[in-house]
Amino acid sequence: MQADLNHLKSVLTRTREEVGKVIIGQKDVIDRCLIAIFTNNHALLEGVPGVAKTMLVRTLAKVLGCEFARIQFTPDLMPADITGTNVFNLQHNQFTLVKGPVFTTFLLADEINRAPAKTQSALLQAMQERRVTIDRDTHVLSPNFTVFATQNPIEYEGTYPLPEAQKDRFMLKISMNCPERDEELALAARTLGPDSPEATLDSDAVKPVISGEELNRIRAVLRGITVREELMSYVVDIVRKSRTHNSVLVGVGPRATQAILLSSRMHAALSERDFVTPDDVKEMARPVLEHRLILRPEYEIEGLTVPEVIDRIVAEVAVPR
Ligand SMILES: Nc1ncnc2c1ncn2[C@@H]1O[C@H](COP(=O)(O)OP(=O)(O)OP(=O)(O)O)[C@@H](O)[C@H]1O
Ligand SMILES: [Mg+2]
Repeated sequence: MQADLNHLKSVLTRTREEVGKVIIGQKDVIDRCLIAIFTNNHALLEGVPGVAKTMLVRTLAKVLGCEFARIQFTPDLMPADITGTNVFNLQHNQFTLVKGPVFTTFLLADEINRAPAKTQSALLQAMQERRVTIDRDTHVLSPNFTVFATQNPIEYEGTYPLPEAQKDRFMLKISMNCPERDEELALAARTLGPDSPEATLDSDAVKPVISGEELNRIRAVLRGITVREELMSYVVDIVRKSRTHNSVLVGVGPRATQAILLSSRMHAALSERDFVTPDDVKEMARPVLEHRLILRPEYEIEGLTVPEVIDRIVAEVAVPR
């Protein structure tokens, strides 16, 4: 088991290095994407235009030996535009399946809140079951199928906010901020030079660290990371506190308990530890709870934010020794 854990750690270190050849900074964001991928979950990726959301998911796909596809969600996008359709082929006198973009491994669902509920749920079925049904035929998707769905944090006008039950299917909400000044300076210099992020990504300078098959296998190694009983109770108490906190209208469901536990375990691996600590749990509480919690309107009117409430909830639960 120790050898496997060491192998996992070296894969994670090399993955960060390769991704870092393209993406400048954004270390926490990259780690949180790796947490979603290595725990076989999906993530909401939120950030203003141009912060490298697309570039990041494309780079992760290349470095982890997986396919990449992107869907731009629009009000007229239909479920079949995502899944694909059976088309009658005159030459062969039979129907053949024209596969949709969902038949990939890392799928970037851009502006998911711009398409109607019917189309959103076609994607969410694929996320949940990793298979799609087209004309009563079921097609299995990649075991590594991972969705990164973006929502523009500014333009909510004329959109279809994801219903709570569907937001619950995303393990993490990853907020991507604009680069720091020195990072933006580095980006400026690279943009003018021969090693722009795009050019670097498309070059041999960025190498795959593992194959898709190995990614699927390596996940089992995470089970070798210890999660003490006290930490499981700590997670359960944080989640239960979210349901009784006076500023909360709707607390989070049991999927949040699973999400904090699994993401904390992967966070420990990224920190090169074979055991989870309370700090891992505290670090994961916000990205797991942020898109799931709904505050009482009176508290929102007072200017209280969801992240502030999460900090209060975590602070009110005793940390296990
Ligand atoms: N931290 C960064 N590292 C490397 N490139 C960056 C970074 N931030 C921005 N860029 C550059 O900015 C450009 C826009 O990136 P990208 O298209 O991935 O953004 P986006 O967040 O997907 O935008 P949109 O929401 O409009 O789709 C690319 O050229 C990318 O290289
Ligand atoms: Mg983009």
